[in-house]
Amino acid sequence: MEPTPDPQLMDKVVNLTKVRGFVFASAEIYGGFRSAYDYGPLGVLLLRNVKDAWWRANVQYRDDVVGLDAAILSPPAIWQASGHLTNFTDPMVDCRNCKERWRADKIEGVCPNCGSSDLTEARAFNLMFKTHAGPIEDEGAVAYLRPETAQGMFTNFANVVRTMRRKPPFGIAQIGKSFRNEITPQNFIFRTREFEQMELEFFVPPADAQRWFEYWLDQRFSWYLDLGIPETHLRKRFHEADELSHYSNQTADIEFLYPWGWGELEGVANRSDFDLLAHAAASGESLDYFDQASGERYVPHVIEPAAGATRAMMAFLLAAYQEDEVGGETRTVLRLDWRLAPYQVAVLPLSKKDELEPTAREVLGLLQPHFMCDYDVTQSIGRRYRRQDEIGTPWCVTVDFDSLEDRAVTVRDRDTTEQVRVPIDRLADEIRSRTGR
Ligand code: GAP
Repeated sequence: MEPTPDPQLMDKVVNLTKVRGFVFASAEIYGGFRSAYDYGPLGVLLLRNVKDAWWRANVQYRDDVVGLDAAILSPPAIWQASGHLTNFTDPMVDCRNCKERWRADKIEGVCPNCGSSDLTEARAFNLMFKTHAGPIEDEGAVAYLRPETAQGMFTNFANVVRTMRRKPPFGIAQIGKSFRNEITPQNFIFRTREFEQMELEFFVPPADAQRWFEYWLDQRFSWYLDLGIPETHLRKRFHEADELSHYSNQTADIEFLYPWGWGELEGVANRSDFDLLAHAAASGESLDYFDQASGERYVPHVIEPAAGATRAMMAFLLAAYQEDEVGGETRTVLRLDWRLAPYQVAVLPLSKKDELEPTAREVLGLLQPHFMCDYDVTQSIGRRYRRQDEIGTPWCVTVDFDSLEDRAVTVRDRDTTEQVRVPIDRLADEIRSRTGR
């Protein structure tokens, strides 16, 4: 049975991310800047861990994918050829009563602000951010902030094939910022105007495209499961023909059960030869592949798993948030996978007394080369455990007065709250074994 989303979950998670330093409203001291967010000390760790986990699965653990980091600022020629200048639009309507603007496909003929149904006809609004490169603001200086990282991988296709001696099937992976002038950014970091993407363009012989599409859809689905999103909160949804992007001939979304219902987490598309053909035609450069073994020349087809790093971070937070009871008290706990948790270990001297500090710092120094560690001496040990539970730290290491005698510390598990005594010289191994490594 499908779980019922908790309507208060979103507020709880947004509040937790704010008070614990994951995400702040951008330009808050100036009253905020709508839909822009700053990632605080814990958010930057969590987001980095999400991106590292993606990179490990899609680049490090494979021998058929290489990385790229292309420019964000890009000339109109790229977006003319890719079709974005013409097609990357959302339908927009104005409310004649209160003058608000809305995405026509997200409202049902009624202004969500004032309830009026006196709306204009929908017109196409291009989502790309336009700017000028250099000191002269004329047509010749127009540049765009990329709305997807994908195009850099198409325009560098021949460079990568040549320099890396690659042969389809192979992929190019990229993580980076993208920008879309969303008409109605909403739901915290779910839809923002500036966000981060993790995209893979996987180039394949045309006859193999369907097989690779299915392969990547399964791979990507499993990635979220492996990092702790329950199966009840994930599903695949295939696009109807009328919702396909202009470049896609088949797309399936991996959807997550957000507190407001099912929504896109990642899209896996079969972009066919659309992009390479378009850039070859517009640039005059050949972007086909010559297979010397078979003597065949062809334009590879592209399977694209396209994920949002910031959106995935939000899904991981929502899936990890729980309230349970410990010692008759309700506690909030983020049951994040250890690979995603901002800190894997917190080192907590039992008291502020000076005698404990050298040993506590020694323990910290032993763990830091292996794990991201927090070090916290303030407040009672019980409150410090709660704080670590709330930010998702899987293991707390407590240094107490006995540690000075027996050279052992207490390791506490976030999920079970169980505590065991471990010799300091076996501590790093003990924690490593708990990670399954
Ligand atoms: N290159 C294909 C592409 O960009 P997309 O479905 O438009 O496809 C891929 O975007 C992913 O990027 C989405 O599934 C989502 O996770 C993320 N994304 C897209 N727009 C976003 C936005 N405005 N804010 C946050 N994440 C966004």
